[in-house]
Amino acid sequence: MSTTPSDIKATLSFSDGTPAIDLPVYKGSIGPDVVDIRALYGKTGKFTYDPGFMSTASCNSSITYIDGDKGELLYRGYPIEQLAVQCDFLETCYLLLNGELPNAGQKTEFVNLVTRHTMVHEQMQQFFRGFRRDAHPMAVLVGSVGALSAFYHDSLDINDAHHREVSAIRLIAKLPTLVAMAYKYSIGQPFVYPRNDLSYTANFMRMMFAVPAEDYKSNDVMVRALDRIFILHADHEQNASTSTVRLSGSSGANPFACIAAGIACLWGPAHGGANEAALNMLFDIQRQGGAERIGEFITRVKDKNSDVKLMGFGHRVYKNYDPRAKLMRETCHEVLSELGLHDDPLFKLAMALEKIALEDDYFVKRKLYPNVDFYSGIVQRALGIPVSLFTGIFALARTVGWIAQWNEMISDPEQKIGRPRQLFVGSARRDVPPLAARK
Ligand code: ACO
Repeated sequence: MSTTPSDIKATLSFSDGTPAIDLPVYKGSIGPDVVDIRALYGKTGKFTYDPGFMSTASCNSSITYIDGDKGELLYRGYPIEQLAVQCDFLETCYLLLNGELPNAGQKTEFVNLVTRHTMVHEQMQQFFRGFRRDAHPMAVLVGSVGALSAFYHDSLDINDAHHREVSAIRLIAKLPTLVAMAYKYSIGQPFVYPRNDLSYTANFMRMMFAVPAEDYKSNDVMVRALDRIFILHADHEQNASTSTVRLSGSSGANPFACIAAGIACLWGPAHGGANEAALNMLFDIQRQGGAERIGEFITRVKDKNSDVKLMGFGHRVYKNYDPRAKLMRETCHEVLSELGLHDDPLFKLAMALEKIALEDDYFVKRKLYPNVDFYSGIVQRALGIPVSLFTGIFALARTVGWIAQWNEMISDPEQKIGRPRQLFVGSARRDVPPLAARK
């Protein structure tokens, strides 16, 4: 979809004598209007300045919509609360990729397609063996997903819609296999091949937890919980990793390389790495005395001179309860009661911490609420997933969002290579002094 101007114009005037200019304003289907500043530099010789993209729409998109003040998240118009309850992850993938939910026939066809692409090239095993066993799974994933472009040359023409579709399916299908391989490699167990008679998520759990010595039977409640984690993480409009994927893709780089770039960005603790950091924070508080130490911990969080943050709290866009966090909290209850862990001390600690933070003026004033990562770590830990793999699970789930956004960008007639400019504050032109004259 390309942008069409509305009747509204924005007039930008300057106090330095530069003539005022009119800028077109566009209306989306919902959400804030945008001012088109593309002609600004040509007409005035000035750039806009917006580090961190606080007020910048970097593209137009029809995939995911967030209303941060309401705490609303829609995939292709459908509320996340309905998708999480009425659909499974592969239906959600189909929706994100194609714009509509699949009917029964389309679903069967799509599930078949993804299922038939779950194996990775056998030589990927050699590639894995080059990593140290104690490598962080995200390091392994950045490398191995990037390496897929060395194995699947036949789907790398980004201008061919069929190639793009095949690459999308390969990525969605192979990520669970690669994440499970990263885990198996780290614990010294043999890789487990995918099984096509299982659902996407049950197959992933089997590749994670089965061993050749005995078979593995997954628990339906746990499979459903993990599937829900996948749905909740599937897309989130123009966040840091998605913008990384779009920027990488804007140069024409292949989709496997672009998704590897997204995974690298996701790894950071301010983004997808927060689920690992949130659980480690809970462990730390528990080690130091548990609930009794929450007050002291919160004091440190609020201290401007400390760099302690309440991990799993706060969000650039949500200034209300993250709707994904609500669903994740529910899933947490379900999984812990299924496992007979109603009294899980970590969950209790998280709930106590949440209650205190939500009542504290510091958090209230700044509109800091729990985000999806606050509870997802507790659920994943209960499912037997090691802490170091949490962000890898996030990457697995977000791959569909990344590839849908990448595809949308490639198909957009307005697409150009991303090339931000800067406010230069360094030295103006100067001459190189001879070595002997340098201080
Ligand atoms: N703990 C304590 N204070 C916080 C927190 C937090 N988790 N988050 C924000 N603040 C404070 C900031 O110090 C700042 O205070 P100030 O106005 O006194 O300077 C104010 O709230 C605004 O915060 P910013 O950092 O300006 O907000 P920004 O939008 O840039 O950051 C971010 C958002 C990165 C998510 C931040 O809230 C954070 O670091 N949270 C913890 C990490 C986390 O949970 N990340 C996961 C995000 S969700 C996801 O990726 C799936």
